[in-house]
Amino acid sequence: MSTIEETLKRALPPNATLADVWRAGRHARGPLAVRESRPGDFEAIAKLQRLAYPEIAPWTPEQLAAQRAAFPAGQLVAEQDGLVVGASASLVVSWDEYAVDHTWKAITGDGTFATHDPAGRTLYGAEVVVDARRRGNGIGRALYKARRQLCRSLNLKRIIAAGRLPGYRNAKDVMSPELYAMRVVWGDIADPVLRFQLSQGFQYCGVIHNYLPEDAPSCGHAALIVWLNEKYAAPRPPALARRAA
Ligand SMILES: CC(C)(COP(=O)(O)OP(=O)(O)OC[C@H]1O[C@@H](n2cnc3c(N)ncnc32)[C@H](O)[C@@H]1OP(=O)(O)O)[C@@H](O)C(=O)NCCC(=O)NCCS
Repeated sequence: MSTIEETLKRALPPNATLADVWRAGRHARGPLAVRESRPGDFEAIAKLQRLAYPEIAPWTPEQLAAQRAAFPAGQLVAEQDGLVVGASASLVVSWDEYAVDHTWKAITGDGTFATHDPAGRTLYGAEVVVDARRRGNGIGRALYKARRQLCRSLNLKRIIAAGRLPGYRNAKDVMSPELYAMRVVWGDIADPVLRFQLSQGFQYCGVIHNYLPEDAPSCGHAALIVWLNEKYAAPRPPALARRAA
């Protein structure tokens, strides 16, 4: 149990259940801060991943250190009540090298971000995860807001990500992943990840098959999504830039 939950348990009647503590905790959270990750956060990030994706190996300290070394500004954690309650990881890529048929492993350099390319124009979202006990409280929104700010501050053209489709396993016998994703977009299916991403201003672009085969709930598939930076200013050709100088 976290510190705040221990405090709440002491404040509640002795027969309070864990559910009572959880319910009380939803209304007793401290301020939320988003900051760059540090090596001291690695264990907490891996724990968030283990709980969210029991079938997928969490990132190792070596992978997390390599990500920070490649692009520290893209590695964020959300902190609340002294705890790491969410995390997101991004890198910059040359999108033309990957386009539609990429895998999570290829585009992230197997989780090391060796593929980070400072000359690229696309911020690629490799991960966002929130503590299951604190979901629905704006933590994912805060991490996505920080990601959009990063995209604008680096004058990148867009954010692209491939979102999990964790509800697809239950529908796989009756529809294709494309129909599943479209029905989420239409509002007929409440897939938690794609719905969250659409609520953050992303557009659905299609399904990538076998994006992350280990992701059993999504049957390995993912929804390709994009957010365009409306403030992006394309670099001017060198000749024009010289004339204006
Ligand atoms: C997806 C995830 C990061 C969302 O985080 P969260 O902190 O619960 O999201 P928020 O509370 O900030 O919600 C933000 C918005 O998304 C919407 N939303 C969030 N979860 C939703 C759900 N299950 N169904 C529908 N809408 C949802 C909310 O309505 C909210 O809208 P608002 O900004 O208008 O209020 C979180 O559910 C998670 O960690 N999932 C497991 C890990 C995962 O699969 N990550 C995706 C990797 S591709």
